[in-house]
Amino acid sequence: MEQNEQNQGLFLSFEGIDGSGKSTQAKLLFEKLTQNNIPSLYTKEPTDLPIGQMIRNLFSKKESQIEKHAQIFLFMADRVQHCQEILLPALKAKKIVICDRYFDSTLAYQGLDLPLQQWIQKISPPFLPKPALTFFLDCPPEVAFQRLTDRNAKTKQAKSYFEERGVKFLQDVQAAYLKIYQQEKKRILRIPANQNPTSIEQKIWSHLLQKHPQFFLQSA
Ligand SMILES: Nc1ncnc2c1ncn2[C@@H]1O[C@H](COP(=O)(O)OP(=O)(O)OP(=O)(O)O)[C@@H](O)[C@H]1O
Ligand SMILES: [Mg+2]
Repeated sequence: MEQNEQNQGLFLSFEGIDGSGKSTQAKLLFEKLTQNNIPSLYTKEPTDLPIGQMIRNLFSKKESQIEKHAQIFLFMADRVQHCQEILLPALKAKKIVICDRYFDSTLAYQGLDLPLQQWIQKISPPFLPKPALTFFLDCPPEVAFQRLTDRNAKTKQAKSYFEERGVKFLQDVQAAYLKIYQQEKKRILRIPANQNPTSIEQKIWSHLLQKHPQFFLQSA
């Protein structure tokens, strides 16, 4: 992966376990940027492109039994397509690109342990852009699990493949995220996610202004 200095845009990703509040914060940030007339894009993984849809479909079934290397290839294939069709064009157009889950999700969910993570790095194509900044929403698994239960009740949605696996699975993924964070503290901002959405939104905004002021100079 390459840090995209040749691109003029700014690549941001949101990471964290299910229910940590990624989509809530990613969308709030996108709205704020749009209100400030800063060209930006909200996108997510799995994508809405054909391979992403296939992944959603596969993982919406409780009985999904997809071998973990096969899972990794699926997510990587979606990412390559995402990169070529959406991410790189938007970065070249100098946009702020907000990605709701990206590479770290594959490392944390499918990688879990180090040998598999190294293999994921090895099979990842060199042209994938690396986020300049990643917001890691650090949420206690029990809190996240309760939020998911409430969200599902509200939207009358069935549990997803990963949610079905319960709190223990979220704890394992959380541990994997924390290790990734320890290794890449320069890129990753860890934000305690067990606080109200507005406080989190403000932390994200002030960090962004401080780290990348050039994107905000004209619009302040
Ligand atoms: N800071 C917060 N405090 C309390 N509830 C929150 C907070 N942020 C989000 N929520 C609620 O928790 C639920 C999960 O939030 P959200 O969908 O943003 O999480 P997510 O990380 O995107 O989850 P997923 O990985 O499943 O997509 C939603 O119902 C949302 O309204
Ligand atoms: Mg989400």
